[in-house]
Amino acid sequence: MNLTTFLIYAPAMQLNGKRVLVIGGGGGGIGRATTDALGNEGAAVLVADLDPARAEEAAQAVRTRGGTAYPISGDVRSATDIEAMVAGAVDKLGGLDVLVTVVGGQVAFVPAVKLHEMADEDWDTIYEVNLRYVARAVRAALRVFLDQGTGGAIVSVGSVTGFMAAPAQAAYGVMKAGILSLARTVAAEYARDGIRMNVAAAGAIATAVANANVAAEVVEEIPAGRFGRSEEVARAVVYLASDAASYVTGQQLVLDGGVSVRGPFG
Ligand SMILES: NC(=O)c1ccc[n+]([C@@H]2O[C@H](COP(=O)([O-])OP(=O)(O)OC[C@H]3O[C@@H](n4cnc5c(N)ncnc54)[C@H](O)[C@@H]3O)[C@@H](O)[C@H]2O)c1
Repeated sequence: MNLTTFLIYAPAMQLNGKRVLVIGGGGGGIGRATTDALGNEGAAVLVADLDPARAEEAAQAVRTRGGTAYPISGDVRSATDIEAMVAGAVDKLGGLDVLVTVVGGQVAFVPAVKLHEMADEDWDTIYEVNLRYVARAVRAALRVFLDQGTGGAIVSVGSVTGFMAAPAQAAYGVMKAGILSLARTVAAEYARDGIRMNVAAAGAIATAVANANVAAEVVEEIPAGRFGRSEEVARAVVYLASDAASYVTGQQLVLDGGVSVRGPFG
């Protein structure tokens, strides 16, 4: 293949030149797949994770394929760490074009109980790792985007639990619903600044966490007949982060194999 043929047929790098902070990008599941996909699409990535080894491994994998990525460790429960992640992206990457938030979940040590049995401190734990940090990171990123005057994109990994009730996961659902509400506010307040925010709302994705917590018979309820793959969520994150989604804001893109649209009959 000569150079001209290559240039015509090579897949476009959807995020070429974009400077991206991905919070929770070191993970074995959606986080890592997202970092891989962002790097493959030409983004320069700062990978933030609680586990420094995971952050480094994810960044190294991008670099091995010829991309640009750096690790940073931090705890999303800390306001200082969130500020440091955003400032670190500006410092390492020379600015910030895209914020991706991945960290979240129904924390393993929080008992899965009905709403009336839920303790205040458990509610707060779920809040801290699912919504409070997202709001902090979004506010910090907005300040950078507005200072730069370049616009920007924010993508948060959400869940079908944000709009479908999941028994014994009340707080998790409320937090994921809150992320979509944030996206709608960002859309309404900042679209004229070229700033967009959207949610990639996942159904049951085959990660270590999901495999451990979700019974095999759940698969029977999924019209697609299988769990989703982390890469399938990552592709949606890439799309929403890219200029291909330049007129999409305040929305959620649902990746659930049909779970949320299936009726009770048949
Ligand atoms: N796995 C699923 O089936 C599923 C379904 C719907 C939505 N989601 C959402 O997808 C996202 C990712 O979930 P996942 O299970 O794929 O996880 P993941 O494997 O992508 O891991 C996330 C990363 O977050 C890091 N992390 C955890 N706590 C942290 C903290 N306090 N500070 C900084 N980093 C921290 C972990 O080290 C890990 O690397 C979550 O928001 C979750 O709610 C997952």
